[in-house]
Amino acid sequence: MSESRLVVALDLTDKDRALEIARSIGRQVFAIKINWPLVLAGSGSIIGEIARVSRVVCDFKIADIPNTNSIIAKFARDQGAWGIISHSFTGLESLRSVVEASGDTKVFSVVAMSHPGSDLINDNYRKLMDISERAGVYGYIAPGNKLSDLSEIRKRTKKTIMSPGIGSQGGRASDAIKAGADLVIVGRSIYESADPVTAAEAINEEIAKAVEQN
Ligand code: C5P
Repeated sequence: MSESRLVVALDLTDKDRALEIARSIGRQVFAIKINWPLVLAGSGSIIGEIARVSRVVCDFKIADIPNTNSIIAKFARDQGAWGIISHSFTGLESLRSVVEASGDTKVFSVVAMSHPGSDLINDNYRKLMDISERAGVYGYIAPGNKLSDLSEIRKRTKKTIMSPGIGSQGGRASDAIKAGADLVIVGRSIYESADPVTAAEAINEEIAKAVEQN
C-alpha cells in the first residue's frame, strides 16, 4: 500500500490519551498534528514523545514578530518536529524568520482557513501565497471543506498542500484530495471515535480510492 496521506490532529488536553492514540495509529498515518491544547496541557516535550512513533506537525499558527517567531520555530525544530504551521498574514519578515529558524523542519503557511468567518484571510490568499513564496515555505494549509478556495490555491502552486476541515467541519477527505490536497488533516472524527484505529483506517481507504480515481 502506498504511504498514508492522513495527518491526525490530536487536540486533546489529556496527554496520556493523546499518547495512547498516537502509539496506536502512529504507523498507519503520515503524521500526527499537535496544536496548543495538547502542549498547554503538558509541555513542549510532548513533541519529542510523539516524534518517537510518527512524524509530528506542530500547528502553532505562529503569528508574531520575527524574534518571537524564531524562538517558537527553533523550539519545535529542536524537539524533533517534522513540520510546523505558521500564519502568513503577519508579513514577509515574520514568516521568513520562521523558515530560517526551522532548518530542516518543513514550514507550511496558512493561506486560507476552514471555519465560518474566515473570509478576511481566505479573500487574501493570493497576497498570502505571494508572501509565502518569497519567504520560502515548503507547503500550504488550505481548507478541505471549501473546495473552490482549495482548487484555486492548488492551481497556483505545485507545493504540498495539507487540508483540514474534514469530518466534523463538514468536508470529505476524498473531495479534498480531488480538489488538490496532498495531505488531509482529521481531528475529532478520529480522536473522539470509540475506535481511532478503525476510524483512521477508513479514512486511509477513502483517500487511497480518491487518489486512484484522480
Ligand atoms: O477536529 P477537526 O478535524 O476539525 O480538527 C482540525 C484541525 O485542523 C484542528 O487542529 C484545527 O486547529 C486545524 N486547522 C483547521 N483549519 C485551518 C488550519 C488548521 O481546522 N485552516
